[in-house]
Parts: sequence; structure tokens; C-alpha cells
Amino acid sequence: MTPPPISMLAELTHRCPLQCPYCSNPLELERAHGELDTATWLRVLDEAAALGVLQVHFSGGEPTLRRDLPVLIAGAARAGLYTNLITAGVLLDETKVQALAEAGLDHLQLSIQDSEAASADRFAGSREAHAKKLAVARMVGAAGLPLTLNAVVHRQNLHHLPAIIELALELGASRLEVAHVQYHGWALRNRAALLPRREQIDEATRTVQAARARLKGRLVIDYVVPDYYATYPKTCMGGWGQQTLNVTPSGKVLPCHAAETITGLAFESVTQRSLADIWAHSGAFQRYRGTAWMAEPCRSCARREVDWGGCRCQAFALAGQADITDPACSLSPLHARLVGLAEEEAAAEPPAFAYRRPSRPRLGTGLAD
Ligand code: SF4
Ligand code: FES
Repeated sequence: MTPPPISMLAELTHRCPLQCPYCSNPLELERAHGELDTATWLRVLDEAAALGVLQVHFSGGEPTLRRDLPVLIAGAARAGLYTNLITAGVLLDETKVQALAEAGLDHLQLSIQDSEAASADRFAGSREAHAKKLAVARMVGAAGLPLTLNAVVHRQNLHHLPAIIELALELGASRLEVAHVQYHGWALRNRAALLPRREQIDEATRTVQAARARLKGRLVIDYVVPDYYATYPKTCMGGWGQQTLNVTPSGKVLPCHAAETITGLAFESVTQRSLADIWAHSGAFQRYRGTAWMAEPCRSCARREVDWGGCRCQAFALAGQADITDPACSLSPLHARLVGLAEEEAAAEPPAFAYRRPSRPRLGTGLAD
């Protein structure tokens, strides 16, 4: 029997007031009229708890655009789920933060784009976003909610990492997630504008290590590195269909937030089938679950149940095939080309951003281009 997932990402909406070029949402964004209604989300939350899910992460887009968010949080809390809200924060005020806390929210994760307002607002594609976020961070603390600050870092803001760490301390965050951009969706489209040089990553790693030692007991720092320059790929999602599932705004159930970029997979919907059935039996979940799908070099590799062959979406995005070793792995025959491409892009002048907007720009950053 398939063990149950630990967590569920509930993408309530793709609507968002910001336009970050590193968003991992799909290029083809879902519109408001296709979103699940409140009753269906409440049923899905109950089904998730019955299936064995422990944590629900409310996300988007911007989940605070959903007026029923406090109702959904209360529903999740009633079902016994740990609730985390992943938000850009710019639409919150004291009353709304208080309502979320009263609904039973356990934790809030606030994104910031940089330590400085001018560049942060440029990355967000929105004026005054940074100032609003700082104000919201303080409201979250005042409401007694634990706060994680999530800073997505890339070639254009990595030099501010020490200041970002100071900002997290100043805002009273208990945790800082320093997340290098993961190249899916809009981030892949903007990779040349975002991908750091190897030396930048090494410097950031040293900064994080020093800060972790200095701030032990005051601030936990999570660090998510890009694996283009690594020896082995990341263990994406803890393995395909093994630990997490993702429900899109319209109700499709995916093994990860980027799974729809893999063509040829059919994703079932909570409007048609129960979450438990989809988790256990849907073809898309079974396709890359475990190790049976693997070819060499993964098939005979000692790490095949450590990183599960890396990221399926990255393999598809870079090589047009999801059933091969992630090219981020140094054992992949495509790895040298990937590193060459990454070094070339990172050394060139960054191009202008393609901001996240509901249109359909061409995706063209793979090894096949
Ligand atoms: Fe992981 Fe496959 Fe690379 Fe081995 S060959 S390290 S299993 S991606
Ligand atoms: Fe889809 Fe890694 S993001 S498997």
C-alpha cells in the first residue's frame, strides 16, 4: 500500500497583485472563474486529513485574495491539520491578520524580494510592496503568529544576503528561508536574468554558514541551493508521489507544483475523484513513483532511493524527457552541457525580466533549443 502524503499544497488561486519573474506558477495561469468554491475546498481539506496529511500550506498566486481564506483555515484546523499560509502579505492589514489568527492559523510565511525597497519593488513589479511587507511582518508578530521570512535569492540580489539576514532578525522572524530560485514556470523563462555565477553561490553558502553559527538559538536559516552546479540533484518533493501533493486552483491534483509542465500526463481532479483514490491510483502519480521507471545511470545507482533521480520537471524542462536522470546530476550524460549553458548565461549581462502576467510567452530555455 502507498504510504500517505505528509503535506498538501493548496493553491487557492493564481491571481496575484505582484509579478515576480521567478514565480514557479505555470506560464498559463488559471483564471478566477475556474477556481474551486469554498464547499469543495472544505471537503478536500477533510479528505486530506482522512488520508493522513499532517500539514496544509495555503498558497497561490496570492491566497489572501480569497475572501473565504479564514473559513478554509478554520476548516483545516477543525480537521486537525497544521496550517501554514504562504503569502506576499501586501493585501493584509491588522484586522485581516487577526482574523487569520482567530481562525486557527498556525504559522505564516511571508515572502520578501530583497532587503532594499527600490530593488525589492523592481523584482515584485509593484510599487510600495516592500514597505507593506515590513509593516505586515510586524503585525504578524503582534498577533502572536510564528513568522518565517522567505527570501528568494538570485544573481541580482545575492550581494544583499547579509542585509536580508539582518532584516529577518529586525522583523522578529524565527526562521529565514534563503531559497535560491528553482527553475520552473516563470523562473525558467527568466533563467538568464536570475541564475547566479558559481562564485556567488559559494559566497552565499559561506554567508549562511557563518550566520547559522552566529545566530544559533535566535534565527533558524533554511537554505535551498540551485542544483545546476551541484554534484547530485535535489531530492525533489521527497520523491514523486511519495510525500506531498498539490491541488491547483481548479482542483487538479499534482505530485508537485510544476508537474503540468510535463506533457503527456493526465491529472485528475478533486471534482471527479477522491483525494485518496487519486493519491493511490492515478496514472500520473504512479508514473514516476519509486524506482521502476528509472533507466541508467539511475537504475543501478546507490543514490536511487536518496534523490529518486532528481526532479522530473527539471529533466523534462531541460531535455524534453521526464523519464531520464535529471541533467543536474553529474552522472547524467547531459550534465556537462547544462553546466556550460549555466556558466554562459550567468556570465552574460542579465536580460530584462519577463514579468509574471496572465499571457503566454514562449518557453525556450532547455538543452534542446
Ligand atoms: Fe541520483 Fe540518478 Fe544521479 Fe544516481 S544517477 S545520483 S540516482 S540522479
Ligand atoms: Fe516537479 Fe521536481 S518540481 S518533480
